Amino acid sequence: MNLPFAECYKIKMVESLRKSTRGDREKWIKEARYNVFNLRSNQVFIDLLTDSGTGAMSDKQWSEMMLGDESYAGASSYYKMKDAIREIMGFEYFLPTHQGRAAENVLFSVLIKEGDLVPGNSHFDTTKGHIEFRKALAVDCTVDEAYDTSVNHPFKGNIDIDKLAGVLKKNPVEKIPMIIITATCNTPGGQPVSLQNIKDVRSVADKFGVRVIIDAARFAENAYFIKTREAAYKDKSIHEIVLEMFSYADAVTMSSKKDAIVNMGGFLAFREEELFKQASVYNILFEGYITYGGMSGRDMNALAQGLHEGTEFDYLDSRIRQVGYLGKKLDEYGIPMQQPYGGHAIFVDAQRFLPNVPREEFQAQKLVVELYLEGGVRAVEIGTLMADRDPVTRENRYPKLELLRLTIPRRVYTKNHMDYTAACLKNIYDRRDSITRGLRIVNEATILRHFTVELEPIG
Ligand code: F0G
Repeated sequence: MNLPFAECYKIKMVESLRKSTRGDREKWIKEARYNVFNLRSNQVFIDLLTDSGTGAMSDKQWSEMMLGDESYAGASSYYKMKDAIREIMGFEYFLPTHQGRAAENVLFSVLIKEGDLVPGNSHFDTTKGHIEFRKALAVDCTVDEAYDTSVNHPFKGNIDIDKLAGVLKKNPVEKIPMIIITATCNTPGGQPVSLQNIKDVRSVADKFGVRVIIDAARFAENAYFIKTREAAYKDKSIHEIVLEMFSYADAVTMSSKKDAIVNMGGFLAFREEELFKQASVYNILFEGYITYGGMSGRDMNALAQGLHEGTEFDYLDSRIRQVGYLGKKLDEYGIPMQQPYGGHAIFVDAQRFLPNVPREEFQAQKLVVELYLEGGVRAVEIGTLMADRDPVTRENRYPKLELLRLTIPRRVYTKNHMDYTAACLKNIYDRRDSITRGLRIVNEATILRHFTVELEPIG
């Protein structure tokens, strides 16, 4: 028989999880105003809120923590990180930042001004937040297939080249400071971007003289999908693919909390010295001196080691196949979800799961609450709550997809945790006809509302 996949690591230390009763959870979710961000982590049994900063570091990463150089300027840890970025991603210049959105803040401070347009593939919410905060507009050019969860397309993160070229043709080039490729693309389901698509974006960008930026949070998972789904790259190593992906970018923003498997950290990397110099000014202002920028030396060491581990094929294979295992289980139960399975998460289609709940009553958030009540599993809404209000009209924005994301932390949970999660969703799916009402907003912030929103059940 074919051998099943098995993790290429073993467990040296464990952390206890607390179980709870449905009664406990009813009380806690009410106190949390039906927003799972307000729960305490010990009120959660399996935490699939995010894969960001929630991974397990390796023994080698912990050893690197002890070797951290905490010098204010010129620390060896900075140079270790610089070497890892040069070797793995091929960029000569970099700036550490405390996380991904900080990298966005620094880069956009240099490049984006009021009235600008920033085309890309479903910009992540903080990316969009930083663009809109500057009174510029994020223009979504993702391929249409991304928005039909039942269509099985290998690269649903791709940018539609015609849509992109349309934006570039219709607007003065001075208003388009960059194109952002998010790889993998989180919002429509952790979906990859093909290397051919990255190349095509580069050639359109060159035609118009626009910079290409890659949001690299999950670049290694993207490279794994290129190797396993894009025929021309099946014999290339992850390292070769990663270098080629970045060879088409002028700069990257990185949230190291994902594919560099650290709990905190980020960076910007650049090809041009001039852009690096301009960004350094804002880095010093917002983050810290250019050789630490919001990170301690020990964290830079762990990050450098994490970049190496996060780009090993065997690690990526067990990581992505664990996510796929959960996907297959849910498929067996008939649960509708984004196909194919994403790199870091399974995205359940809440519109098809809870069709009786009106869209204005936040279907995906309702499902998040039900899942928590069912078994103490914390997922996250990627739908109307996260889509926020239109910055001009202040009307709710209804995104094309209403998703519940089951985000799998790296090297943290076992197959049994996946089985448990799938069983919770099956129980809810079996009684889906009885779920007819959702939630209403009681309180919300003006930007990035989903983090702090307060809700109450309707009916
Ligand atoms: N870009 C992408 C594609 C992301 O997924 C995230 C964060 C960021 C940028 C911002 O990075 O959190 O380090 O500031 N995503 C997390 C998530 C929060 O849960 O998907 P950050």
